[in-house]
Amino acid sequence: MPESFDVIVIGAGPGGYVAAIRAAQLGLKTACVEKRETLGGTCLNIGCIPSKALLQSSENFEEAAHKLADHGVVVAGVKLDLARMQARKGEVVTANVKGVEFLFRKNKVTWLKGTGRLTGPGKVAVGEEVYEAKHIILASGSESVPLKGVPVDETQIVTSTGALELGAVPKHLVVIGAGVIGLELGSVWRRLGAEVTVVEFLDRILPGMDGETCKAFERVLVKQGFKFKLKSKVTAAVPGADGVTVTVEPAAGGAAEELKADVVLLAIGRRAYTEGLGLDAAGVALDERGRIKVDGHFATNVPGIYAIGDVITGPMLAHKAEEEGVAVAEIIAGQAGHVNYEAIPAVVYTWPEVASVGATEEQLKEAGTAYKAGKFPFTANGRARAMGDTDGFVKLIADAKTDRLLGAHIVGPDAGTLIAELALAIEFGASAEDVARTSHAHPSLNEAVKEAALAVAGRAIHI
Ligand code: FAD
Ligand code: NAI
Repeated sequence: MPESFDVIVIGAGPGGYVAAIRAAQLGLKTACVEKRETLGGTCLNIGCIPSKALLQSSENFEEAAHKLADHGVVVAGVKLDLARMQARKGEVVTANVKGVEFLFRKNKVTWLKGTGRLTGPGKVAVGEEVYEAKHIILASGSESVPLKGVPVDETQIVTSTGALELGAVPKHLVVIGAGVIGLELGSVWRRLGAEVTVVEFLDRILPGMDGETCKAFERVLVKQGFKFKLKSKVTAAVPGADGVTVTVEPAAGGAAEELKADVVLLAIGRRAYTEGLGLDAAGVALDERGRIKVDGHFATNVPGIYAIGDVITGPMLAHKAEEEGVAVAEIIAGQAGHVNYEAIPAVVYTWPEVASVGATEEQLKEAGTAYKAGKFPFTANGRARAMGDTDGFVKLIADAKTDRLLGAHIVGPDAGTLIAELALAIEFGASAEDVARTSHAHPSLNEAVKEAALAVAGRAIHI
């Protein structure tokens, strides 16, 4: 008799492991299949966590080398020990993935090690073993999108995975794609001494995020030394003994130019990963972009099979996957699991950071929604001045009639932390006036949020 579970989750990333823990908390007998040697998925192993470890370390290096002197702190002989920096990153990852193992034991989630494959409704094969499950949750995540003419070898031509593992600082790093990965990992290597050129197909960086905010961010990055080639595409990258030759053309066509790079980072997006899942055997349908098709309750077209996280539609973010993991487990347990997609923040962990939640001005214009916006710059915030971090602003957007908060966009110090109160405000259906009338501690960066809320009604105090 095959062993049977109430729930089998395939994939132990932030979507899958959280779904498994929540299902177990709700009293369901749960297993999670993971083929990687460690739990935590892309995020903990080769994504969010190692990238944030390197972002922190590289920022510390840049502070010591270039920024502390302005504060009257003179640090002589600052040196980079990249091997130690990489080893520390490994320690941070290990602590996190072991933490998930601990949580599985604590919640009695069985880890089935190996590749999970659907062999029919209610059946999952892991190697030679076949297990039965009343409910199956697919959480197989995503992978980097390849580009014709740019052969990834993860040493000279790398995806984010190789860019997190470099053993030496490249003299010239060419990044293909001015998205989140390109700008975060570009920042890491720029801070450590690389010249960074970013080639972007569109006429702007971070497409999808608020235009004005990203324009301001682009100016800061240029000040930091980033070089951008917008409206440009890479048509070939050829590795050789003396580096990689990168051919760049205007997006609209025209004369090509060649760049020489020590390392090329390909970061033009990620796509759903469904290889080896056995979707055909079970008859699970995909959408036109290869993602698993689900309804509003994460159900696929096959009864008893659900999908969450990067492998379905929506922003490819760890916390989005986690929310879906909790919701699907609750739905399976007969509860009313739900995700509010209007209130999912997005953060770019560069310095300054960029953070947003809710609608952009562009989206509201397109939808024909009347809105009012209020903006407050960090140059007018006392704490930002004390920190020496005055680049950027907070922008809040509220419904013109009801004053309900519709969106928040921040570029500035600790934007990723500041955005949390605005996600909460949107979740609670707060108005800009509610935020404006909330007391914010002085002197704090959060006061810029309050002032931006006051600015929505044209009555900011400090500007
Ligand atoms: P994943 O984390 O991709 O996990 C899927 C797991 O399923 C993998 O471990 C895989 O091995 C396993 N799997 C797949 N198929 C099978 C199978 N058949 N059998 C067994 N196991 C299988 N998001 C943020 O919110 N914040 C960040 O700061 C951030 N930084 C990032 C930095 C980088 C460099 C990258 C690449 C991504 C980053 N992301 C970030 C995105 C985030 O990692 C993903 O959104 C998140 O990991 C998605 O979670 P998931 O559970 O859907 O899938
Ligand atoms: P992305 O979708 O953020 O950006 C890709 C960029 O590449 C876009 O600007 C796009 O216009 C450009 N592009 C596409 N094709 C191109 C081409 N041929 N030539 C030049 N430019 C091209 O994708 P990215 O940066 O790879 O990240 C993947 C996912 O990982 C994102 O969706 C993001 O959600 C997630 N992630 C999240 C992080 C965070 O939350 N802090 C950090 C890193 C990744």
